Amino acid sequence: MTILITAGPTREPIDPVRYLSNYSSGKMGYAIAEAAARDHHRVILISGPTSLEIPSGVDYLPVETADEMAEAVSVWLGVADIAIMTAAVADYRVKDISLQKRKKDPDRDEMTLELIKNRDILAEARSVHQFPGLLVGFAAETESLIENAQAKLARKGCDLLMANDVSNSVFGSDQNTLVAVFPDRIESLGSHSKAYLGERIIDLCVRLQKENSIK
Ligand code: CTP
Repeated sequence: MTILITAGPTREPIDPVRYLSNYSSGKMGYAIAEAAARDHHRVILISGPTSLEIPSGVDYLPVETADEMAEAVSVWLGVADIAIMTAAVADYRVKDISLQKRKKDPDRDEMTLELIKNRDILAEARSVHQFPGLLVGFAAETESLIENAQAKLARKGCDLLMANDVSNSVFGSDQNTLVAVFPDRIESLGSHSKAYLGERIIDLCVRLQKENSIK
């Protein structure tokens, strides 16, 4: 099968020397990519900036901004059977990116950055690209894990959403605790290494996609 995976954070520039981003390490997405490549699937890994080694045997597409990630996904989604969106995409970008370094105003203690909403890459997979394959999202939540995940699953048209409690911050950790949220049920995957969870997620997704395609 061909599996498209988004991973890592995005970086939204403020000026030539600054950006907005988040704490995502990319480890979960890379672990899934590694497990998929090991199982001889074709893997298209679209990744924001991370400090991780590129897993061997994957087609690697590095991007910086949410817009660049959305572009890469729109080009490659058409060849994918399964899309797994683990990226921590910045919800907003800076409205007017300064071409020169922004100078500090010596007379003001406050400054305001105007932001505009980025495209929702996961939601657009269905709403814009009519992706017919298995669509999997991730949801990092700090409260009401299952309720928020169920709402996100429905809102974004996913087949499966992996819910991840980040109230005790797992960013950068090699371990993760995941709950698989389906439209009609939930299933705990427990707490394990990201490498092990990556394998479980690939096994689950490949099985679900096979079931879907014979329906
Ligand atoms: N996602 C995306 N594009 C965005 C925002 C999110 O593709 N612009 C994807 C993520 O890759 C993830 C899922 O949507 O698979 C959920 O991301 P999350 O940040 O939890 O959801 P948001 O829609 O941003 O909701 P909120 O931040 O309000 O919780």
